[in-house]
Amino acid sequence: MKHLFCLFLFAVWSLCGMHAQHVFTLDTKKLGAEIQPTMYGIFFEDINFGADGGLYAELIENRSFEFPQRLMGWNTFGKVEVNDTHPAFERNPHYVTLSDAGHPERRTGLENRGFFGIGLKSGMEYHFSLYARSAGSAKIRIELVGSDNEIIARQSIEINGSTWNRYTATLTSTKTDAKGLLRLFLESKQSVDVDHISLFPGDAWQGVLRADLVNDLKELHPGVFRFPGGCIVEGTDLATRYQWKHSVGPAENRPLNINRWNDCFPYRLYPNYFQSYGLGFYEFFLLSEELGAQPLPILNVGMACQYQNLTNDQCHVAVDSLQPYIDDALDLIEFANGETSTPWGKLRADMGHPQPFNLKFIGIGNEQWGPLYAERLEPFIKAIRSRHPEIKIIGSSGPSPDDNDGKQFTYGWNEMKRLKADLVDEHYYRDPQWFLNNVTRYDRYDRKGPKVFAGEYACHIDVKASESPTARNCFEAALMEAAIMTGFERNADLVHMATYAPLFAHVEGWQWRPDLIWMDNLTTVRTPNYYVQQLYAQHRGTHVLKLTEEGKPITGQDGLCASAVYDQSNKRYIIKVVNTSDSPKEVTITFRGLKQVGAGEVIQLHAPQMETFNTIQNKEQVIPQSTNIQVEGNELQTTIPAKSFMLYKF
Ligand code: AHR
Repeated sequence: MKHLFCLFLFAVWSLCGMHAQHVFTLDTKKLGAEIQPTMYGIFFEDINFGADGGLYAELIENRSFEFPQRLMGWNTFGKVEVNDTHPAFERNPHYVTLSDAGHPERRTGLENRGFFGIGLKSGMEYHFSLYARSAGSAKIRIELVGSDNEIIARQSIEINGSTWNRYTATLTSTKTDAKGLLRLFLESKQSVDVDHISLFPGDAWQGVLRADLVNDLKELHPGVFRFPGGCIVEGTDLATRYQWKHSVGPAENRPLNINRWNDCFPYRLYPNYFQSYGLGFYEFFLLSEELGAQPLPILNVGMACQYQNLTNDQCHVAVDSLQPYIDDALDLIEFANGETSTPWGKLRADMGHPQPFNLKFIGIGNEQWGPLYAERLEPFIKAIRSRHPEIKIIGSSGPSPDDNDGKQFTYGWNEMKRLKADLVDEHYYRDPQWFLNNVTRYDRYDRKGPKVFAGEYACHIDVKASESPTARNCFEAALMEAAIMTGFERNADLVHMATYAPLFAHVEGWQWRPDLIWMDNLTTVRTPNYYVQQLYAQHRGTHVLKLTEEGKPITGQDGLCASAVYDQSNKRYIIKVVNTSDSPKEVTITFRGLKQVGAGEVIQLHAPQMETFNTIQNKEQVIPQSTNIQVEGNELQTTIPAKSFMLYKF
């Protein structure tokens, strides 16, 4: 409310003929470059428990007993054995046998604490299922239990039959508890084999994705959805790379993979971090459709993570042995777009989506650099171009946005030009000053080559230490991102996509920060960075407009960065101004070509301090504040408060 009042005051005061420090001119007569619908999007990687334990709504950890320590995540009591004879699922062959504990006062069973506890919400139904078989008639009791050991819900299942069958039960929670658990008791003398023990909340999107996180994504309005990463595409070695074919078909038979971030950082060790692939490529395409975002898969180029194999070039596939990897790319295009009479198109239809997913882009290689990459990418490009000239191919320029660290950024770009990649993926996790210096980055780029995909970026206050208290999603970082995005927007003829990274982090399970959206087991929190992305994506516009001061673009002079667009569909002018300085700026914006600007809205993103960030407990420290404004004639006189991001629309 205080914010609203201040906004109102400065709007009124601004109409009273103050002396402007800055005079901007907006040329409304001439539409500039078209802005791609893919301009602002999302980057998803299974890092920070983003998939299992995050977006994938499964509440049971190690549901298939396939973790290398088969019972990791489970407490057992009584007589429980791990077996793999005549399994239910050939690619996930382990299961457990529950047998009589051998004494009337003893019990056999299992207990699972989910991912940092099982989040239970009062009044919510939970869908339980398992696969089981028994030589006779067996009975299992299932309980949802609170963190205080109180039984919250209970059901029983009768198991009959010596072949594997799926059994289900619904339990309604009467309590909210972030740290609940699931217990199973054998209630018969007869033993039983059980596998794929699963529990999903009743509100899960399509039954499988966490509803609140899906909602956060919807309200971002992403135009493109990059998946599944990130380094996870590469794997520490090729055996553990992300293989999309392992992530489709029945979830029960998708083979487990170790997560690349499991043991990556000794100071953020998560030995229980694996990929069930329950959130796989089919779910990715479905969600892209729901979000109205172009799906953008990134596939392995036959290379393991270069960072993790700096002295071992032999860890990659030989160039003459790349065919299976190239086939993976071609088959993925068929899975997404192929006729249902093709093998992969048929699988898509069998999974429930006969219509094509309308895939238009594919990325080959994640954060690859040097000749090792270029020589592998080349045969992919040839094969995809010859079979699918309609698909746009994205290549990498490596992990760095310049040549300062030997990762061959310029070489990478030159190779992408030579290979005629359609877009080049750039990554930058850099400090605030770098972000400000790079507001003009794309003004200087060659217009004849590939387009730009800013495929991973985030402002890191402390680039060296993700453990540092400043490595947060603080307002300062968000403000710098808003500043550089004025440069993306002004250069929309060249910059066709941009995705902040990473997307999700669990407050108890992160390996990397900052991240766009944080969650615990019950709720999520939108960061100031989220709101910057949202404001840009919601106000993407259709065409760039020229916005200048003394004939020059506004790229940091006196701490101001600004850009403008026209939205043809809604007939709106939108101006974004970032003030990174310590003092308010009085600005007059002349709408050249308009007589009357009229009624509009101004949205401000500001924080009491640059260090301020939103938390699960205090989600609204930094949120956009909106107010209505009225401009008589064609001049907007306004004040851009110190350290703030302002968006005007008329
Ligand atoms: O976003 C986190 C990591 O940063 C990604 O996995 C990788 O591509 C980059 O180094």
